Amino acid sequence: MITAELLRKKYLEFFASKGHAVVSGASLIPENDPTVLFTTAGMHPLVPYLLGEPHPAGRRLTNVQKCVRTGDIEAVGDASHLTFFEMLGNWSLGDYFKREAIEWSYEFLTSPQWLGFAPEQLYVTVFEGGEGVPQDEESMAIWESLGIPRERIFALPKEDNWWGPAGVTGPCGPDTEMFIDTGKELCGAECRPGCHCGKFVEIWNDVFMQYNKTAEGKYEPLKQHNVDTGMGVERTICMMNGCATVYETELFAPIMMKIRELSTARPEDEEQAVRAERIIADHIRTAVFILCDPKGGVKPGNVGANYVLRRLIRRSVRYAKLLGIATGYTRILADTVIEKYAVAYPELEKGRNNCISELVNEEERFEKTLNAGQREFDKVSEALKKHNQTVLSGRTAFKLYDTYGFPLEFTEELAAELGLSVDREGYEAAFKKHQELSKQAVGSFKGGLADNTEATTRLHTATHLLHHALHIVLGEHALQRGSNITPERLRFDFAHPEKVLPEQLAEIERVVNEAIKRDLPITCETMPFEKAKGAGAIALFDGKYDEEVKVYSAGDFSKEVCGGPHVARTGELGVFKIQKEEASSAGVRRIRAVLLPAS
Ligand code: ALA
Repeated sequence: MITAELLRKKYLEFFASKGHAVVSGASLIPENDPTVLFTTAGMHPLVPYLLGEPHPAGRRLTNVQKCVRTGDIEAVGDASHLTFFEMLGNWSLGDYFKREAIEWSYEFLTSPQWLGFAPEQLYVTVFEGGEGVPQDEESMAIWESLGIPRERIFALPKEDNWWGPAGVTGPCGPDTEMFIDTGKELCGAECRPGCHCGKFVEIWNDVFMQYNKTAEGKYEPLKQHNVDTGMGVERTICMMNGCATVYETELFAPIMMKIRELSTARPEDEEQAVRAERIIADHIRTAVFILCDPKGGVKPGNVGANYVLRRLIRRSVRYAKLLGIATGYTRILADTVIEKYAVAYPELEKGRNNCISELVNEEERFEKTLNAGQREFDKVSEALKKHNQTVLSGRTAFKLYDTYGFPLEFTEELAAELGLSVDREGYEAAFKKHQELSKQAVGSFKGGLADNTEATTRLHTATHLLHHALHIVLGEHALQRGSNITPERLRFDFAHPEKVLPEQLAEIERVVNEAIKRDLPITCETMPFEKAKGAGAIALFDGKYDEEVKVYSAGDFSKEVCGGPHVARTGELGVFKIQKEEASSAGVRRIRAVLLPAS
């Protein structure tokens, strides 16, 4: 049997042998990115680097990334859909492209030294073209040159073979996907990789990122060609061990066993019973990873990521009822999940107590409202039946949500069981009105506090001052190697061979604060790249830019090629305070700093 642990190890080893730096996976809770609630793919935390910022570890990276995707939550319960999964990835940041990516995928999948899949089991898809991008003949030819016959290569449209992040904007491009033939019968004449019948299981995706999708929906060519790949751990070990579903793999086996032990009832419909078991296993596993995330802060609640978490827990509680599982089961299943993953994800052990107390609280809270809400739902549905009506109003659905904590989808599921539907639009209208009202309330509380955008703009300007101060205090070698800004703090990576001494840090802070006190105006000029360099502007990229670039200056203090935005004057920044200095990687140091209100 190949375990998840062995697969992770082999993957990282293989790509390390191809010159990739093994980097750690990021938090499930995205930093500095309002477009998604959770990290949905390995590429997500790497977006700045895919857009051209240099990564401190180089141009070839590989890692294991925890991902949460709830877009397909309704499909959970089949053989392969999960709301949490681990993605193995390898990246080229403006380094290799299609040929190497595909050749390595093929080698890793089929070489007996690595995964050893029979080449005949492998089917692939490529982009058929569209939106001004031609069919991906190049990938097709590379697969053929490796021995995959044309009959096992399928050209598919954008819905299948184009990848961009879950948000609307960002780096994207055509992809080539790899499927394993399970040996099942074709489900019909149209059955092919990409068909959802389960004959072909997608285990890996190589994305060739050449474009950046803008907010206006345009595809701009990226400065660099990137490769972003994602291999699903659960699905791959499922295929390697000949399991029929991911729930039979060693990752899920102990959780499924525990659910069976705890069950005291079984619906007559076997399919419904199995689906309930799988949903409970999937949702609790996801909830445990969210609650134990080192970044923390996501608790069951009514909006955004908090709501996703609540929905997962509550949905699982409802299916647990179906199987006659007693209250308190979330604690038992959380322990089982933590035990299974403790070695690969030490954060689970650390987060255990908090995780279990949140789960149990939410379970108990939901129990209480569930009974009251069920009575309300029964009352309304009976009245509807009596009047031969089939649509539950949006107002009722909202009341069930707001007063009894029933997520909309939950009400929809209950309704569907009775042959009723829910007025979704009416529900959304009621929800929106409610949100607007609460926003007004929050707004009047916060008064004149800066919003997120203002806070990040100020920290961005502070980053420029810090960059220049590093050059003054440490030397010109201290060039930016990475930067990440949230509304709360800035994080700045720069080249420097040794620890920055406390007295140097104090001097850096002093230099930045002096520039702030001088209340220097920030000005922006557009000029050709070479001229900007000639004028002494710091420029991170050494490409042959003959195009125009923007140069931001803070008075006579600093000058840097940058896209903006910045504040108007340095005096707006308040007080600059360094919180931490640490190593980021070999030869690269990291500073975290905040801006405090001027006293
Ligand atoms: N980002 C690609 C995916 O998630 C690899 O499929």
